[in-house]
Amino acid sequence: GSHVVVAIDGPSGTGKSSVSKAVARKLGVGFLDTGAMYRALTWWCLEQQIELTDADAVAAASRDLPLTMGTDPNHPDVFIDGRSIEVHIRESRISQSVSTVATNLDVRADMQQRQRELMAQVSEQTGGVVAEGRDITTVVAPDATVRILMTASEEARMARRSKQLSVTAESTRSQIVDRDRVDSTVSTFMTAADGVVTVDTSHLDFEQSVQAVLHVVSAEA
Ligand code: C5P
Repeated sequence: GSHVVVAIDGPSGTGKSSVSKAVARKLGVGFLDTGAMYRALTWWCLEQQIELTDADAVAAASRDLPLTMGTDPNHPDVFIDGRSIEVHIRESRISQSVSTVATNLDVRADMQQRQRELMAQVSEQTGGVVAEGRDITTVVAPDATVRILMTASEEARMARRSKQLSVTAESTRSQIVDRDRVDSTVSTFMTAADGVVTVDTSHLDFEQSVQAVLHVVSAEA
């Protein structure tokens, strides 16, 4: 219909998440952080002492996960059994193990299905949705109104991440580079797929990045 569906993918440290949230606010539509869903499952498995390398157990946990996403871009949130776990899923122990869970192909199929349903629901409610992740433009919503790959030089991404995490440059480098390397074995987000518009934020500040995305949205939508 006339819903504006904006799909944004990219590696970690591009500012994808905060930019996507701001774009959703400007457009007055809902926001879906799909990485938060993989993080939530990872947190749950650690809580339940499920071995992350036990693919069948993790896939079963995914199917049964009592997960609810708060999709208001003014206060996105993640709930399991009605309890907010937003703070916990940002811990570095989660960042370090989330790729093990996210490269489980049964988990991906389950999460991708949940994401499609959520995007449809949110679109229905707010007239559109901005969804961000690694495989939104290619697998979850290849028919989105607008598809964007947000990139930034490794240097710029590291600078942003180390500011967020306040840790040393070297551990930041290995954390984000390793995670992107593993994640890119199952999703295409290091290069733009056919029909996907690249927005390079290496030399853009936050507000400029938001404007750049809005510019693509108004050109395509
Ligand atoms: O975006 P964020 O860093 O929160 O994503 C956390 C992890 O979730 C990624 O490193 C990746 O393993 C996984 N992910 C994914 N597909 C998505 C979004 C995130 O595999 N669409």
